[in-house]
Amino acid sequence: MRAAVIAGLGGYVPPNLVTNADLTARLDTSDEWIRSRTGIASRHVVSPGTATSDLAVEAGRRALESSGASEADALVLATTTPDHPCPATAPDVAARLGLGPVAALDISAVCSGFLYGLAVSAGLIAAGTAERVLLVGADAFTTIVDPEDRGVAVIFADGAGAVVLRAGEPDEPGAVGPVVLGSDGEHRHLIQVPAGGSRQPSAGVAPAPGDRFFRMRGRETYRHAVDRMTAVSRDALVRAGWQVEDVDRLAAHQANARILGTVADELGVPPERRLSNIEQVGNTAAASVPLLLAQAAAEGELTEGMRVLLTAFGGGLAWGATTVRWPRLGPLTAPDRPGAEVPVPGMRPASSIRSTR
Ligand code: UT7
Repeated sequence: MRAAVIAGLGGYVPPNLVTNADLTARLDTSDEWIRSRTGIASRHVVSPGTATSDLAVEAGRRALESSGASEADALVLATTTPDHPCPATAPDVAARLGLGPVAALDISAVCSGFLYGLAVSAGLIAAGTAERVLLVGADAFTTIVDPEDRGVAVIFADGAGAVVLRAGEPDEPGAVGPVVLGSDGEHRHLIQVPAGGSRQPSAGVAPAPGDRFFRMRGRETYRHAVDRMTAVSRDALVRAGWQVEDVDRLAAHQANARILGTVADELGVPPERRLSNIEQVGNTAAASVPLLLAQAAAEGELTEGMRVLLTAFGGGLAWGATTVRWPRLGPLTAPDRPGAEVPVPGMRPASSIRSTR
Protein backbone atom coordinates (compact mmCIF):
# COMPACT_ATOMS: atom_id res chain seq x y z
CA MET A 1 0.00 0.00 0.00
CA ARG A 2 1.17 3.56 -0.71
CA ALA A 3 2.43 5.40 2.33
CA ALA A 4 2.28 9.10 3.24
CA VAL A 5 5.83 10.45 3.41
CA ILE A 6 6.79 13.73 5.10
CA ALA A 7 8.32 15.95 2.40
CA GLY A 8 8.04 19.42 3.97
CA LEU A 9 7.57 21.04 7.36
CA GLY A 10 6.77 24.51 8.65
CA GLY A 11 5.67 26.26 11.83
CA TYR A 12 4.52 29.70 12.81
CA VAL A 13 3.69 31.57 16.01
CA PRO A 14 2.23 35.08 16.07
CA PRO A 15 4.72 37.71 17.26
CA ASN A 16 2.83 38.89 20.34
CA LEU A 17 4.54 37.21 23.34
CA VAL A 18 2.71 37.06 26.69
CA THR A 19 4.84 36.19 29.71
CA ASN A 20 3.72 34.85 33.07
CA ALA A 21 4.46 38.31 34.48
CA ASP A 22 1.95 39.79 31.99
CA LEU A 23 -0.70 37.36 33.31
CA THR A 24 0.04 37.82 36.99
CA ALA A 25 -0.54 41.55 36.48
CA ARG A 26 -4.23 40.91 35.73
CA LEU A 27 -5.09 37.45 37.15
CA ASP A 28 -5.06 35.87 40.61
CA THR A 29 -2.10 33.61 39.80
CA SER A 30 1.67 33.54 40.14
CA ASP A 31 4.70 32.74 38.02
CA GLU A 32 5.56 30.01 40.52
CA TRP A 33 2.10 28.36 40.18
CA ILE A 34 2.12 28.48 36.38
CA ARG A 35 5.68 27.15 36.05
CA SER A 36 5.38 24.42 38.66
CA ARG A 37 1.90 23.19 37.60
CA THR A 38 2.26 23.52 33.82
CA GLY A 39 5.91 24.20 32.87
CA ILE A 40 4.90 27.30 30.89
CA ALA A 41 6.85 30.58 31.06
CA SER A 42 5.47 32.41 28.02
CA ARG A 43 3.13 31.95 25.08
CA HIS A 44 2.34 33.62 21.76
CA VAL A 45 -1.12 35.05 21.18
CA VAL A 46 -2.85 36.51 18.16
CA SER A 47 -3.50 40.22 18.02
CA PRO A 48 -7.10 41.36 17.47
CA GLY A 49 -8.22 40.65 13.91
CA THR A 50 -5.87 37.71 13.35
CA ALA A 51 -7.71 34.44 12.73
CA THR A 52 -6.75 30.77 12.56
CA SER A 53 -6.51 30.88 8.74
CA ASP A 54 -3.86 33.61 8.97
CA LEU A 55 -1.65 31.36 11.10
CA ALA A 56 -2.42 28.32 8.92
CA VAL A 57 -1.50 30.13 5.69
CA GLU A 58 1.89 31.16 7.08
CA ALA A 59 2.74 27.67 8.41
CA GLY A 60 1.45 26.08 5.19
CA ARG A 61 3.53 28.42 3.06
CA ARG A 62 6.64 27.51 5.06
CA ALA A 63 5.94 23.77 4.74
CA LEU A 64 5.46 24.05 0.97
CA GLU A 65 8.69 26.06 0.73
CA SER A 66 10.64 23.41 2.62
CA SER A 67 9.19 20.70 0.34
CA GLY A 68 10.62 22.51 -2.68
CA ALA A 69 7.29 22.61 -4.53
CA SER A 70 4.30 24.90 -4.25
CA GLU A 71 1.61 22.34 -5.11
CA ALA A 72 -0.62 19.98 -3.16
CA ASP A 73 -3.81 18.34 -4.35
CA ALA A 74 -5.56 18.27 -0.97
CA LEU A 75 -5.51 20.50 2.10
CA VAL A 76 -6.45 19.12 5.51
CA LEU A 77 -6.76 21.61 8.38
CA ALA A 78 -6.97 20.40 11.98
CA THR A 79 -8.39 23.14 14.15
CA THR A 80 -10.53 23.81 17.20
CA THR A 81 -11.05 27.44 16.23
CA PRO A 82 -12.25 27.65 12.62
CA ASP A 83 -12.59 31.21 11.30
CA HIS A 84 -16.40 30.68 11.18
CA PRO A 85 -18.80 27.94 12.38
CA CYS A 86 -19.66 27.55 8.68
CA PRO A 87 -18.05 26.97 6.19
CA ALA A 88 -14.84 25.05 6.87
CA THR A 89 -11.65 27.13 7.00
CA ALA A 90 -9.55 24.76 4.85
CA PRO A 91 -10.88 25.98 1.45
CA ASP A 92 -9.93 29.56 2.36
CA VAL A 93 -6.40 28.46 3.37
CA ALA A 94 -6.04 26.45 0.13
CA ALA A 95 -7.17 29.42 -1.96
CA ARG A 96 -4.83 31.86 -0.23
CA LEU A 97 -1.92 29.47 -0.75
CA GLY A 98 -2.72 29.38 -4.46
CA LEU A 99 -3.37 25.64 -4.48
CA GLY A 100 -6.30 25.95 -6.89
CA PRO A 101 -9.57 23.99 -6.73
CA VAL A 102 -8.22 21.18 -4.51
CA ALA A 103 -10.01 18.99 -1.96
CA ALA A 104 -10.07 20.85 1.36
CA LEU A 105 -11.57 19.90 4.69
CA ASP A 106 -11.39 20.74 8.40
CA ILE A 107 -10.82 18.16 11.10
CA SER A 108 -12.27 18.81 14.54
CA ALA A 109 -10.43 16.69 17.10
CA VAL A 110 -9.16 19.49 19.38
CA CYS A 111 -5.59 18.76 20.56
CA SER A 112 -5.48 15.40 18.73
CA GLY A 113 -6.38 17.02 15.40
CA PHE A 114 -2.92 16.63 13.89
CA LEU A 115 -2.83 12.87 14.62
CA TYR A 116 -6.34 12.48 13.17
CA GLY A 117 -5.17 14.60 10.24
CA LEU A 118 -2.21 12.30 9.62
CA ALA A 119 -4.55 9.31 9.45
CA VAL A 120 -6.97 11.07 7.08
CA SER A 121 -4.17 12.40 4.87
CA ALA A 122 -2.51 8.97 4.72
CA GLY A 123 -5.91 7.54 3.76
CA LEU A 124 -6.35 10.08 0.95
CA ILE A 125 -2.94 9.10 -0.39
CA ALA A 126 -3.46 5.34 0.03
CA ALA A 127 -6.80 5.55 -1.78
CA GLY A 128 -5.26 7.46 -4.68
CA THR A 129 -7.47 10.49 -4.03
CA ALA A 130 -4.37 12.66 -3.54
CA GLU A 131 -0.65 12.50 -4.39
CA ARG A 132 0.40 15.39 -2.14
CA VAL A 133 -1.49 16.59 0.92
CA LEU A 134 -0.77 19.76 2.87
CA LEU A 135 -1.77 18.97 6.47
CA VAL A 136 -1.97 21.96 8.81
CA GLY A 137 -2.67 22.06 12.54
CA ALA A 138 -3.62 25.60 13.56
CA ASP A 139 -5.40 27.24 16.45
CA ALA A 140 -6.10 30.80 17.50
CA PHE A 141 -7.10 29.14 20.74
CA THR A 142 -7.04 32.30 22.84
CA THR A 143 -10.06 33.53 20.83
CA ILE A 144 -12.24 31.02 22.75
CA VAL A 145 -10.55 31.31 26.16
CA ASP A 146 -12.20 33.40 28.87
CA PRO A 147 -9.39 35.83 29.77
CA GLU A 148 -10.67 35.84 33.38
CA ASP A 149 -10.57 32.02 33.75
CA ARG A 150 -7.17 31.49 35.36
CA GLY A 151 -7.52 27.71 35.04
CA VAL A 152 -7.17 27.88 31.25
CA ALA A 153 -5.96 31.41 30.42
CA VAL A 154 -2.46 30.60 31.67
CA ILE A 155 -2.22 27.40 29.58
CA PHE A 156 -3.63 27.86 26.09
CA ALA A 157 -1.99 29.79 23.26
CA ASP A 158 -1.90 30.27 19.49
CA GLY A 159 0.19 28.90 16.63
CA ALA A 160 0.32 26.67 13.58
CA GLY A 161 2.38 23.81 12.17
CA ALA A 162 2.18 22.05 8.82
CA VAL A 163 3.59 19.11 6.90
CA VAL A 164 3.57 18.26 3.21
CA LEU A 165 2.84 14.55 2.74
CA ARG A 166 3.59 12.86 -0.57
CA ALA A 167 2.85 9.38 -1.87
CA GLY A 168 5.73 6.99 -1.25
CA GLU A 169 6.84 3.64 0.12
CA PRO A 170 6.24 2.46 3.71
CA ASP A 171 9.93 1.71 4.30
CA GLU A 172 11.39 5.03 3.12
CA PRO A 173 12.52 7.79 5.51
CA GLY A 174 9.64 10.09 6.40
CA ALA A 175 6.93 7.46 5.91
CA VAL A 176 4.18 7.85 8.51
CA GLY A 177 3.73 4.54 10.35
CA PRO A 178 0.42 3.00 11.38
CA VAL A 179 -1.69 5.68 13.09
CA VAL A 180 -3.61 4.47 16.16
CA LEU A 181 -6.63 6.59 17.15
CA GLY A 182 -9.29 6.46 19.84
CA SER A 183 -12.11 8.43 21.45
CA ASP A 184 -14.36 8.48 24.51
CA GLY A 185 -17.50 10.59 24.14
CA GLU A 186 -18.69 9.64 27.62
CA HIS A 187 -16.23 12.24 28.89
CA ARG A 188 -17.05 14.96 26.34
CA HIS A 189 -17.98 17.33 29.20
CA LEU A 190 -14.38 17.53 30.48
CA ILE A 191 -13.40 19.81 27.58
CA GLN A 192 -16.14 21.84 25.96
CA VAL A 193 -17.42 25.11 24.51
CA PRO A 194 -21.06 24.71 25.64
CA ALA A 195 -22.77 27.17 23.25
CA GLY A 196 -22.64 28.00 19.55
CA GLY A 197 -23.42 24.52 18.20
CA SER A 198 -26.76 22.81 17.61
CA ARG A 199 -27.11 21.83 21.32
CA GLN A 200 -27.20 25.51 22.32
CA PRO A 201 -27.81 27.18 18.95
CA SER A 202 -27.47 30.85 18.07
CA ALA A 203 -31.23 31.07 17.48
CA GLY A 204 -33.55 30.88 20.52
CA VAL A 205 -32.54 31.47 24.13
CA ALA A 206 -29.38 33.53 24.52
CA PRO A 207 -26.53 31.48 26.00
CA ALA A 208 -25.46 32.12 29.58
CA PRO A 209 -22.49 34.47 29.85
CA GLY A 210 -19.43 32.32 29.60
CA ASP A 211 -21.05 29.47 27.65
CA ARG A 212 -19.32 30.63 24.48
CA PHE A 213 -15.95 30.17 26.16
CA PHE A 214 -13.82 27.04 26.32
CA ARG A 215 -14.08 25.15 29.61
CA MET A 216 -11.84 22.40 30.93
CA ARG A 217 -12.07 20.26 34.06
CA GLY A 218 -8.32 20.17 34.45
CA ARG A 219 -7.71 17.66 37.20
CA GLU A 220 -9.90 14.93 35.64
CA THR A 221 -8.58 15.66 32.14
CA TYR A 222 -5.04 15.30 33.45
CA ARG A 223 -5.61 11.68 34.51
CA HIS A 224 -7.16 10.72 31.16
CA ALA A 225 -4.34 12.46 29.27
CA VAL A 226 -1.66 10.42 31.02
CA ASP A 227 -3.50 7.09 30.69
CA ARG A 228 -4.55 7.52 27.06
CA MET A 229 -1.28 8.91 25.67
CA THR A 230 0.70 6.17 27.42
CA ALA A 231 -1.57 3.38 26.16
CA VAL A 232 -1.95 4.65 22.59
CA SER A 233 1.82 5.20 22.33
CA ARG A 234 2.42 1.59 23.34
CA ASP A 235 -0.09 0.46 20.69
CA ALA A 236 1.62 2.55 18.00
CA LEU A 237 5.02 1.09 18.93
CA VAL A 238 3.64 -2.45 18.65
CA ARG A 239 2.00 -1.66 15.29
CA ALA A 240 5.30 -0.23 14.00
CA GLY A 241 7.33 -3.17 15.32
CA TRP A 242 9.47 -0.84 17.48
CA GLN A 243 10.67 -1.31 21.04
CA VAL A 244 10.62 1.72 23.34
CA GLU A 245 14.46 1.62 23.27
CA ASP A 246 14.22 2.36 19.52
CA VAL A 247 12.57 5.74 20.15
CA ASP A 248 15.11 8.53 19.58
CA ARG A 249 12.62 11.34 20.19
CA LEU A 250 9.18 11.54 21.80
CA ALA A 251 7.06 14.35 20.31
CA ALA A 252 3.98 14.49 22.52
CA HIS A 253 1.19 17.06 22.58
CA GLN A 254 2.43 19.91 24.77
CA ALA A 255 -0.47 19.84 27.23
CA ASN A 256 1.42 20.23 30.48
CA ALA A 257 5.06 19.53 31.35
CA ARG A 258 4.03 17.25 34.22
CA ILE A 259 1.80 15.18 31.92
CA LEU A 260 4.63 14.87 29.40
CA GLY A 261 7.04 13.78 32.12
CA THR A 262 4.69 11.15 33.49
CA VAL A 263 3.83 9.73 30.04
CA ALA A 264 7.52 9.53 29.12
CA ASP A 265 8.42 7.96 32.49
CA GLU A 266 5.66 5.36 32.15
CA LEU A 267 6.76 4.53 28.60
CA GLY A 268 10.43 4.44 29.62
CA VAL A 269 11.64 7.24 27.29
CA PRO A 270 14.61 8.94 29.04
CA PRO A 271 14.66 12.74 29.51
CA GLU A 272 17.24 13.43 26.79
CA ARG A 273 14.89 11.86 24.22
CA ARG A 274 11.86 14.02 25.02
CA LEU A 275 11.13 17.07 22.89
CA SER A 276 9.47 20.00 24.59
CA ASN A 277 8.71 23.62 23.77
CA ILE A 278 5.83 24.14 26.21
CA GLU A 279 7.93 26.53 28.29
CA GLN A 280 8.05 28.97 25.37
CA VAL A 281 4.75 28.39 23.54
CA GLY A 282 2.26 26.88 26.02
CA ASN A 283 -0.50 24.55 24.84
CA THR A 284 -1.34 25.39 21.22
CA ALA A 285 -3.96 22.61 20.81
CA ALA A 286 -4.14 21.31 17.21
CA ALA A 287 -0.89 23.13 16.37
CA SER A 288 1.05 21.62 19.24
CA VAL A 289 2.65 18.53 17.66
CA PRO A 290 3.55 19.97 14.21
CA LEU A 291 4.78 23.19 15.80
CA LEU A 292 7.01 21.15 18.11
CA LEU A 293 8.35 19.16 15.14
CA ALA A 294 8.98 22.34 13.12
CA GLN A 295 10.78 24.06 15.96
CA ALA A 296 12.84 20.99 16.88
CA ALA A 297 13.84 20.32 13.27
CA ALA A 298 14.73 23.99 12.64
CA GLU A 299 16.97 23.95 15.72
CA GLY A 300 18.70 20.65 14.87
CA GLU A 301 17.04 18.63 17.67
CA LEU A 302 15.46 16.36 15.07
CA THR A 303 17.79 14.93 12.47
CA GLU A 304 17.65 12.50 9.59
CA GLY A 305 17.21 8.86 10.59
CA MET A 306 15.87 9.50 14.10
CA ARG A 307 12.92 7.33 15.11
CA VAL A 308 10.19 9.63 16.38
CA LEU A 309 7.10 8.68 18.38
CA LEU A 310 4.20 11.16 18.05
CA THR A 311 1.24 11.21 20.41
CA ALA A 312 -1.61 13.55 21.34
CA PHE A 313 -4.68 13.75 23.56
CA GLY A 314 -7.51 16.23 23.90
CA GLY A 315 -11.19 17.07 23.97
CA GLY A 316 -13.73 14.59 22.71
CA LEU A 317 -12.07 12.89 24.39
CA ALA A 318 -9.83 11.90 21.48
CA TRP A 319 -6.27 10.63 21.24
CA GLY A 320 -3.76 9.18 18.80
CA ALA A 321 -0.17 8.09 18.18
CA THR A 322 2.11 7.13 15.33
CA THR A 323 5.76 6.66 14.41
CA VAL A 324 8.03 8.29 11.82
CA ARG A 325 11.64 7.67 10.88
CA TRP A 326 12.76 11.27 10.40
CA PRO A 327 13.51 12.27 6.77
CA ARG A 328 15.99 14.69 5.24
CA LEU A 329 14.13 17.97 4.69
CA GLY A 330 14.84 21.21 2.85
CA PRO A 331 15.81 24.40 4.73
CA LEU A 332 13.44 25.17 7.60
CA THR A 333 12.29 28.50 8.96
CA ALA A 334 12.19 28.97 12.75
CA PRO A 335 8.51 29.22 13.79
CA ASP A 336 9.11 32.48 15.67
CA ARG A 337 10.53 34.24 12.61
CA PRO A 338 8.10 37.03 11.69
CA GLY A 339 5.59 36.21 9.03
CA ALA A 340 2.85 37.95 7.10
CA GLU A 341 1.01 38.96 10.27
CA VAL A 342 1.64 42.62 11.14
CA PRO A 343 3.98 42.62 14.17
CA VAL A 344 2.67 44.18 17.34
CA PRO A 345 4.75 47.21 18.43
CA GLY A 346 6.98 46.37 21.39
CA MET A 347 7.01 42.62 20.72
CA ARG A 348 9.71 40.64 22.46
CA PRO A 349 11.75 37.94 20.73
CA ALA A 350 10.82 34.36 21.59
CA SER A 351 13.43 32.15 23.19
CA SER A 352 14.42 28.90 21.54
CA ILE A 353 13.35 25.30 22.08
CA ARG A 354 14.70 23.38 25.06
CA SER A 355 14.81 19.67 25.61
CA THR A 356 13.58 18.50 29.02
CA ARG A 357 17.06 17.38 30.01
O1 UT7 B 1 -4.66 19.95 25.86
C1 UT7 B 1 -5.77 19.15 26.06
C2 UT7 B 1 -5.68 18.34 27.27
N1 UT7 B 1 -5.45 19.16 28.43
C3 UT7 B 1 -4.81 18.67 29.44
O2 UT7 B 1 -4.38 17.55 29.39
C4 UT7 B 1 -4.68 19.53 30.66
C5 UT7 B 1 -4.84 18.68 31.89
N2 UT7 B 1 -4.82 19.39 33.14
C6 UT7 B 1 -3.82 20.14 33.59
O3 UT7 B 1 -2.87 20.43 32.92
C7 UT7 B 1 -3.88 20.57 35.04
O4 UT7 B 1 -4.96 19.91 35.66
C8 UT7 B 1 -4.04 22.09 35.23
C9 UT7 B 1 -2.73 22.79 34.87
C10 UT7 B 1 -5.18 22.62 34.39
C11 UT7 B 1 -4.30 22.38 36.70
O5 UT7 B 1 -3.28 21.84 37.51
P1 UT7 B 1 -3.65 20.96 38.79
O6 UT7 B 1 -2.40 20.66 39.47
O7 UT7 B 1 -4.48 19.81 38.32
O8 UT7 B 1 -4.47 21.97 39.66
P2 UT7 B 1 -5.98 21.87 40.15
O9 UT7 B 1 -6.93 22.06 39.02
O10 UT7 B 1 -6.12 20.64 40.98
O11 UT7 B 1 -6.07 23.14 41.09
C12 UT7 B 1 -5.26 23.25 42.27
C13 UT7 B 1 -5.53 24.60 42.88
C14 UT7 B 1 -7.01 24.92 43.00
O12 UT7 B 1 -7.21 25.61 44.21
P3 UT7 B 1 -7.79 24.82 45.50
O13 UT7 B 1 -9.12 24.30 45.08
O14 UT7 B 1 -6.79 23.74 45.79
O15 UT7 B 1 -7.84 25.90 46.55
C15 UT7 B 1 -7.26 25.87 41.86
O16 UT7 B 1 -8.32 26.76 42.10
O17 UT7 B 1 -4.96 25.62 42.06
C16 UT7 B 1 -5.95 26.62 41.78
N3 UT7 B 1 -5.66 27.20 40.48
C17 UT7 B 1 -4.79 28.20 40.34
N4 UT7 B 1 -4.02 28.87 41.23
C18 UT7 B 1 -3.20 29.83 40.74
C19 UT7 B 1 -6.17 26.87 39.27
N5 UT7 B 1 -5.62 27.64 38.33
C20 UT7 B 1 -4.74 28.49 38.95
C21 UT7 B 1 -3.88 29.50 38.52
N6 UT7 B 1 -3.13 30.12 39.45
N7 UT7 B 1 -3.76 29.82 37.22
